[in-house]
Amino acid sequence: MKVDTNRPIGIFDSGVGGLTVAHAIRQVLPDESMIYFGDTAHLPYGEKSPEAIHHYAEKITRFLIGQNCKTVVIACNTASSVAYASLVEKYGRKVQIVNVIDPVVDYYLENLAPAKVGVIGTKATIRSGAYEEKIKSRDPEARVFSKATPLLVPMIEEGFIFDDISNAIIRAYLSEEPLRSVESLILGCTHYPIIKNQISKFYDFSVEILDSAAIVARTVKKLLVESDLQRSKKPEKDRFYISDYTPYFEKISGMFFEEKINLKKLDLWKEE
Ligand code: DGL
Repeated sequence: MKVDTNRPIGIFDSGVGGLTVAHAIRQVLPDESMIYFGDTAHLPYGEKSPEAIHHYAEKITRFLIGQNCKTVVIACNTASSVAYASLVEKYGRKVQIVNVIDPVVDYYLENLAPAKVGVIGTKATIRSGAYEEKIKSRDPEARVFSKATPLLVPMIEEGFIFDDISNAIIRAYLSEEPLRSVESLILGCTHYPIIKNQISKFYDFSVEILDSAAIVARTVKKLLVESDLQRSKKPEKDRFYISDYTPYFEKISGMFFEEKINLKKLDLWKEE
């Protein structure tokens, strides 16, 4: 059967965070087309129950499959930690599904272990224990310290970046032990790369800060190459959907992508 390699890559998150991954994918795969869905109506996912997160992730995955995507990237740690396994079980035969946790865990174990590692993320991600479990199942001696940092997503979505408010919040979260003295830190939320420099500065640039964007983009590229799914035609214009309009989404997407993006509001839940 002839497979159409020119189908787009679907990417989703609860808001602007997944744009860090979309931007990195754009850098390593300039010839691919992307469809992005930011579920701004239900943000923050990190505060929601696993049932609600499943429900959102499933609806968006079905939408992206309906848009003929060849790959779906769950560009959200919260949805990856809660819903990845069930999405693969339900849709893994139709589409390649990539989460943002496994590639970072692989990177840590291959390049940085046994460095003492901290993981910060939303309440739902940290509650799921996904990072700790995945790391410790392969390296039982690993020293992993996780902490939920729930104020960071609303802070970023409200545009508090590199200012006194964000500095105070970052300091409040990271200055206690054991996070104060980790040797590497996993940003277990796709919103956090937006404040990566600020976090690096908190540690006087002496801690290796891992974020999923570039690592996941390389994984997506590897998968497309291995499965012979790289696009052969000129890319179409990327499409960006949000479930509720937020002016900040437009502003920050402009910071990531040089040209004005093609942004549409789309409420997938309207008919429910
Ligand atoms: N960016 C998301 C993550 O990686 C979700 C943030 C949220 O909606 O709470 O976890």
